[in-house]
Amino acid sequence: MTTGMIGNPVLRVDGRAKVTGAARYAADFNQKNQLYAVIVGATVGLGRVTAIDVASVSRMPGVVAVISHLNAPKLAYGTHKGSIDPAVGERLHVLQDNQVRFFGQPIAVVVAESLDIAERAAAELKVSYSRQQPVIDPKDPKAQQVTPDPRGRVHADRSRGNADAAVASAPVKIDERYDTARENHNPMEPHATIAAWNGNRLTLWSKSQFVVNEQAEIAAIFGIPVQQVQVVCPFIGGAFGTSLRTWPHVTLAAIAARHVGRPVKLVLSRKQMFFTTGHRPRTLQRVALGATSDGKLVSLIQEANGETSRYEQFVEAVTSATNYMVSCPNVSTRYRLSPLDTSTPTYMRGPGEATNMFALECALDELSYKLGIDPIELRRRNEPTVDEETQKPFSSRSLMHCYTEGAERFGWARRDPKPRSMRDGRLLIGYGVASATYPVFYAPANALARLLPSGIVEVEAAASDMGPGTYTSMTQVAAETLGLPMDQVRFRLGYSVYPATPPHGGSMTMASVGSAVRAACIELRRLAEGAAVAAPQSPVFKASVEQLEWKQDRVYRRENAGSGISYREIGNRAGKPIEAQGSSDHDPELPKRYSMHAFGAAFIEVAVDPDVGTIRVRRTVGVYGAGRIINPFLARSQCIGGIVGGIGMALMESTALDPRDGRIVNAHMADYVVPVNLDISNIDVSFVEENDPHVNPLGVKGLGEIAIVGIAPAIANAVYHATGKRIRTLPIRIENMLSH
Ligand code: MOS
Repeated sequence: MTTGMIGNPVLRVDGRAKVTGAARYAADFNQKNQLYAVIVGATVGLGRVTAIDVASVSRMPGVVAVISHLNAPKLAYGTHKGSIDPAVGERLHVLQDNQVRFFGQPIAVVVAESLDIAERAAAELKVSYSRQQPVIDPKDPKAQQVTPDPRGRVHADRSRGNADAAVASAPVKIDERYDTARENHNPMEPHATIAAWNGNRLTLWSKSQFVVNEQAEIAAIFGIPVQQVQVVCPFIGGAFGTSLRTWPHVTLAAIAARHVGRPVKLVLSRKQMFFTTGHRPRTLQRVALGATSDGKLVSLIQEANGETSRYEQFVEAVTSATNYMVSCPNVSTRYRLSPLDTSTPTYMRGPGEATNMFALECALDELSYKLGIDPIELRRRNEPTVDEETQKPFSSRSLMHCYTEGAERFGWARRDPKPRSMRDGRLLIGYGVASATYPVFYAPANALARLLPSGIVEVEAAASDMGPGTYTSMTQVAAETLGLPMDQVRFRLGYSVYPATPPHGGSMTMASVGSAVRAACIELRRLAEGAAVAAPQSPVFKASVEQLEWKQDRVYRRENAGSGISYREIGNRAGKPIEAQGSSDHDPELPKRYSMHAFGAAFIEVAVDPDVGTIRVRRTVGVYGAGRIINPFLARSQCIGGIVGGIGMALMESTALDPRDGRIVNAHMADYVVPVNLDISNIDVSFVEENDPHVNPLGVKGLGEIAIVGIAPAIANAVYHATGKRIRTLPIRIENMLSH
């Protein structure tokens, strides 16, 4: 590695394409002869479809088809559990029966010559139902609480020591309940699929964070070989987890296209995205802490309840971080699920950790006031030296370093510890902190590198770029590994024909795909070298590997540095592409030896207007220890995005269901409030130097998820410091500030 591309703040290689409109998103791949499909969603929360008045809509000019369970094909729905689907339960089989499991469930799809006609016909389709009362609130006495099935790979119960007894006898304790809201992802780009059949082969231009999974899923649903389905998605306009799974609209587009024998385009409306494409489940949590009077934790209990649907068990790591964040001899965590008559939740940025750390980090803050100890100092006194859950060493852990750095950047020393003591004119000022963490995930990935006769190297992987800058960072990894300038490397992603990669989620893209790209480029260099020594006119003809040396893009005999041969010349002489495959090559034993996580510290300043209750986040400082940073410019941008998401989680975002029928009453951007520019002020992001030799060959831990974690509790803690009001329910609202 010689060109020093890794670690440089290079601008996005796809930036020009994005700002000029040349970048094509799923809905941009319009096909000749294309029709438009619009989904009709159930208007009851539970029950059955008893009749559909197809005839009146079918007569409307321009309507081509109305497809429902009455005329939809019986689909194979073969077993396919992608790594992203809940392991327990069975996915929604769309249009296969008359059952309505949740409000908004697709019950028909209208296909027409234009979008306008399809929308109008869908709105006019008369559907009759038999209805039952859905259970949609985990606090409803009729809601069950179940222990998650162990196949879901999330621990239901974990304990060490005797946490109940230790809390009971602790000199200082707190025991509180926390309630985090259901949230919807709301990326700018809506879900969209264009489906086109050619005989029994299907092409889907479809928004997806996981194209090879969408390919396998649709093949399984239709009962056709995987090779007969192709999924194309070169660009994503934000996703945050909502495009990891393949939701029913993709199947509906394919059903519709086959039914009418023409390409069909199906784009979800903003409203529809609230009902059928996953959401962050609401959590109800309890945290109890026991400590000595000098602030040493003796007991920690966390109980969390998450929502799921009746037909699948969606689980996330709502209690995991509790087991390794702090040093404590007696710890008990418990996770339960409430199956509700709603659609299945899914991963949303920082899934599990974001809600887990809200409860834990607020509880620690509460304890700090009770003890009269600075909240950072409290965390310092309880900083573990090993992962006490597993007794494994951390591969690296920079949490305290992040706090030290953050306190300096933020000016934490200026804080008067007394609540309601700091003011700016009429405004109450509060400073709050919280820890962030996210695991280092990795899954096997593949890539292909191809040296063209022109000297350009193409690198391909079926990865995605929902915004973090995968195009750019992978180009950096390839360029550095090969010794080429960035502009001689073209990285391509988003086609299911490319080598398979894991989901573009869980902050694992760089660790997984990056390692595969590196491996493919190392192999390409080896093949290029082989071609160079085999070519009679080459200056390195018949040289042995030991005699050769590379400097940037040239290989030469060590004793004659002046007479090398470049990739361009090697490619040129070969006259045809030289291709190399690579796979990520992680030591599978590593997770058994090390506890691997990224850590960070979030500092927040809020200003609360005591008369009208408005809460403004005036400053954020986020400091992260996330291993090697491939591109500081993109990494910073990732973290700003996560912090903005955290501000939304803390103060605005909440999906509201009508208790009568489960209808989402704020399924639009006017009432589902997200932060806008005026809500966001100074955000200061930095990274502490962290050389972690254990995590993977690139030394990266992943970023993206961690940036939302810790923000909501830091805001809640700052609000308490400003006002003396401890709000344990998200989002924190104006009315919380006004009530006494
Ligand atoms: Mo992330 S929630 O795994 O897209």
